[in-house]
Amino acid sequence: MSISTSDFDFVAELVQRKSAILLPKGKEYLVEARLDYLAKQKGLPSIAELVSRVRKQPYSELPDELVDALTTNETSFFRDLRPFEGLKEVIIPALMKARSVPRTLNIWCAACSSGQEPYSVLITLFENFPDLINWNINYFATDFSAEMVERTTNGIYADLEVKRGLSEELRTKYFNKVDAGWQAKPMLRNMLQIRRLNLIEPWTLPPIDLIMMRNVLIYFSNDIKKDILGRVRKTLTPDGYLMLGAAETTISIDNSYSVEDAGPARCYRPKTGGEAVSMPQAQKGL
Ligand SMILES: C[S@@+](CC[C@H](N)C(=O)[O-])C[C@H]1O[C@@H](n2cnc3c(N)ncnc32)[C@H](O)[C@@H]1O
Repeated sequence: MSISTSDFDFVAELVQRKSAILLPKGKEYLVEARLDYLAKQKGLPSIAELVSRVRKQPYSELPDELVDALTTNETSFFRDLRPFEGLKEVIIPALMKARSVPRTLNIWCAACSSGQEPYSVLITLFENFPDLINWNINYFATDFSAEMVERTTNGIYADLEVKRGLSEELRTKYFNKVDAGWQAKPMLRNMLQIRRLNLIEPWTLPPIDLIMMRNVLIYFSNDIKKDILGRVRKTLTPDGYLMLGAAETTISIDNSYSVEDAGPARCYRPKTGGEAVSMPQAQKGL
């Protein structure tokens, strides 16, 4: 099924307005493949009919479902590995030292997709820092997509997904076999506060010590990246850490961050004397 130019323009504008994701000309093939699938799921005969319904029902769930269908949710356990080495070797030890009183750690995985990333971080914590069992860990995992939020909440992964990045040993230790594959054990799932959160809208979070915001800024314009990085900067504690995807950086976009090595990984931290605020009363929840 192909998409007309006017439908493509309408879809690209809708997706940009709702999620900030850019769909430049030339991406018609991607839009066609994904909307073809959605149209079939909805029992509709064509992409044109699907788009027509989205136009006619702007306040239904359909526009969000269409945007969802066009987001890229690619992820895997321990994706790129180096950030997790960085957490193990440098970032978590530094934060544990700095937060030894009151033994509280706030973590946010923004754009967590189907959850492999926050579960990988939790496994890294459990495997390497057993003392954290006595800490108060507030771990927020958020994504724009309702479907991804549901998947993260269920924590169920097919065999193929589990094989991407998870050793048999870790799988057996942290997951239970279920009909559809492997489900993260309650000890992991119960630690996550999972919510929908659109990064282009204001968010309410307590000051966060570690923000993982990987492989999402790449989809946005420089203006949107700058806006999000500015608000992330205000959410980070003054000595906190931001990790971005391998193809992402703050350099040339927001100079209020310093770039540091964390073992084999790269991280971004508020520059001293910058604007980061530490709220006296941590606000719980989103
Ligand atoms: C490629 S995945 C990255 C997943 C994970 N962070 C990783 O690196 O493996 C990008 C995720 O960003 C989410 N996303 C896209 N636009 C967003 C927005 N405006 N606000 C929040 N999340 C968004 C998508 O739903 C998708 O799950």
